[in-house]
Amino acid sequence: MWSCPVCSQSLSADIAGYCCPDNHRYDRAREGYTNLLLANQKRRPDPGDNADMLLARRAFLEAGWYLPLVEELVAQLARRAPGQLLDLGCGEGYYLAQMSDQLPGWHLAGVDISRIGIRMAAKRGQWAEWAVASSKRIPVSDRSIDALVSIFAPVDVSELQRVLRPGGCVLQVAPGPEHLYELKAEIYSEPRLHPVPEALSGFTVSEQVAVQFPMVFKDPASLSGLLSMTPLAYRLDAAKRAQLLARRTFTVQADFWVRVLELNHDA
Ligand SMILES: C[S@@+](CC[C@H](N)C(=O)[O-])C[C@H]1O[C@@H](n2cnc3c(N)ncnc32)[C@H](O)[C@@H]1O
Ligand SMILES: [Zn+2]
Repeated sequence: MWSCPVCSQSLSADIAGYCCPDNHRYDRAREGYTNLLLANQKRRPDPGDNADMLLARRAFLEAGWYLPLVEELVAQLARRAPGQLLDLGCGEGYYLAQMSDQLPGWHLAGVDISRIGIRMAAKRGQWAEWAVASSKRIPVSDRSIDALVSIFAPVDVSELQRVLRPGGCVLQVAPGPEHLYELKAEIYSEPRLHPVPEALSGFTVSEQVAVQFPMVFKDPASLSGLLSMTPLAYRLDAAKRAQLLARRTFTVQADFWVRVLELNHDA
C-alpha cells in the first residue's frame, strides 16, 4: 500500500521501517510511526494541529461526546466488505481506535501532517499503520485503498481518485448547517449556518446522512476542551471564555454531514 514519497515506487516493510527498490529508506520511529513527509512538502517546520489542540481533542473525544458520529461511521463501513481503510487527517487517532474495536477484518491506516498527532495516535497501538504525510500527496500506491475516511480534514480530489480501488468509497464528514451554532452565537453578532459541503468532482454521493444531537455541558472541562479544539477558540476573548465556562449548563448542537462518495466509472 505505502509508496515512496520520492519516487512513488512501492515500499516494502522491514524490521527498521520501509524501503523502496531504489533504496530510499524511511525508518520507523520508536512510537511505531513512519515519517513519509518530505521536508520540501512542508510550508512550515511543524505543520498541522499543535499539541494543545490535539490534547484538547483527545480529552473531548475520549469523553464520548461524538459517539453518535462514530456509530454512523461504523454502520456505514460495516455494510461493506472489509478491506484497506485509510483515515486522511486522522489527528490523534480517536476514530481509527473506535473502528479497530468495532470493525474486525479491516486493515487500518492513518496519516496526518501533524507529527505530534501521529505520535499520539501511534502510541495507541500498532493495530493500524501510522504515517506522517499530507493528504495532498498521499504516499500510497494507485488504487490501493477500499475506504478513505476524512473527518473535518482537508482533501485533494485528484488524490482521492488516484488511490481508491474500483468499488471503493470515500466517507467524508463535514460540519452540518447548525454545527456548534450556540458557540458561534456567542462569538458573532450574526452567526452563519455552515454551507452544504462542496461536491467532489469525479464522485457521486451515494448516501448523505445528517447526524445531529444536542450536547449538554454541565462541567467546564468538556466545554473548555471543545473550545480549544476548534478554530472558534481563537475568536473568543478571555473574558467571554470565562463567562461561558462559568455557566451551570450550556447546550451546543452537534451537526455533521456524513457522505458516502463512490468513484464515477469514467473518472
Ligand atoms: C479538525 S482536525 C480533525 C482530526 C481528526 N480527523 C478528528 O476528527 O479528530 C484536522 C486534522 O487535519 C490535519 N491536516 C491538516 N492539513 C493536512 C494535510 N494537508 N494532510 C494531512 N493532514 C492534514 C491536522 O493536523 C488535523 O489533525
Ligand atoms: Zn524511492
